[in-house]
Amino acid sequence: MENLITLVNNIQRACTALGDHGEESALPTLWDSLPAIAVVGGQSSGKSSVLESVVGKDFLPRGAGIVTRRPLVLQLHRIDDGKEYAEFMHLPKKRFTDFAAVRQEISDETDRETGRSKQISSVPIHLSIFSPNVVNLTLIDLPGLTKVAIEGQSETIVQDIESMVRSFIEKDLATSDAIKIAREVDPKGDRTFGVLTKIDLMDKGTNAVDILEGKSYKLQFPWVGVVNRSQADINKSVDMIAARRREREYFQSSPEYSHLAHRMGSEHLGKMLSKHLETVIKSRIPGLQSLINKTIIELEGELTKLGKPIAADAGGKLYTTMEICRAFDQNFKEHLDGVRAGGEK
Ligand code: GDP
Ligand code: NA
Ligand code: MG
Repeated sequence: MENLITLVNNIQRACTALGDHGEESALPTLWDSLPAIAVVGGQSSGKSSVLESVVGKDFLPRGAGIVTRRPLVLQLHRIDDGKEYAEFMHLPKKRFTDFAAVRQEISDETDRETGRSKQISSVPIHLSIFSPNVVNLTLIDLPGLTKVAIEGQSETIVQDIESMVRSFIEKDLATSDAIKIAREVDPKGDRTFGVLTKIDLMDKGTNAVDILEGKSYKLQFPWVGVVNRSQADINKSVDMIAARRREREYFQSSPEYSHLAHRMGSEHLGKMLSKHLETVIKSRIPGLQSLINKTIIELEGELTKLGKPIAADAGGKLYTTMEICRAFDQNFKEHLDGVRAGGEK
């Protein structure tokens, strides 16, 4: 089933390469129907930290205030062996092996779009990480929800962030304690994973336990508590492996949480999300396939209208688009056959 996630990752990359962010574009409905996981929560609630822990790598800009100012579409690709590396869609062929440089590039690329202001932009940055230590997963980091504009931000920023967050989660899954929005877009709760961050900073006692046991706010999926690195840890460069070990020990040794320890922590969260994404992708294969077929027909129609011979620029791109769609279509058929032959796993 991991191949299905890889396939969906590839389609998502093709959509982004073709300028399709789910806004007005040649393939609007295709991007919209692809599954991914997005985070929703207040500013500095720990969204970027959660994603980093799931990936097991330091690479996202984090900190107090509005640090994440553009959506980051992050695709994790599991490779069997070899050294892990990262690649940005806007820098094809450049392999990053230094994850501090990845963080710097996210920050620079954010500034390229927004200027060095505190403004936000809904144009995503697309990053792929290839590693033997990740599960295949598409994650989207988003700016945090906020209540007031700060100096250097437009008056509309509160609404702008909310609209941006909505535009991502209306397509797919929300992971957060931003219950209000999650409940609106997902009333049945079958796309919402509750993640409770900063457990180490909460008052000990019944409060967090009630949430984690689903007594305060029940979701279809069990809540996951996490302990990410604090700002002091980040300043001291506490590494991810040490942080994970400490997180595990925290839950196992805590009298309040030890009975829940087996389903707490970032590693457990990563596995749960990946498993869920597989299920969703599988259920969407037939719909995606007919969408791709429809897109091919539309593009072929456009190509006919343009007439031949094709201009090098416009026609060239159209051809490429179609070829990509065809390749995916072929791929899908093979996968479908595989799934049917393999049956329910
Ligand atoms: P975001 O704005 O929601 O993306 O939040 P960040 O991931 O940037 O985190 C904001 C701040 O909270 C950073 O200084 C993190 O170190 C800190 N932080 C995040 N998660 C935890 C946690 O579980 N425990 C503690 N003590 N600090 C955390
Ligand atoms: Na922050
Ligand atoms: Mg962030």
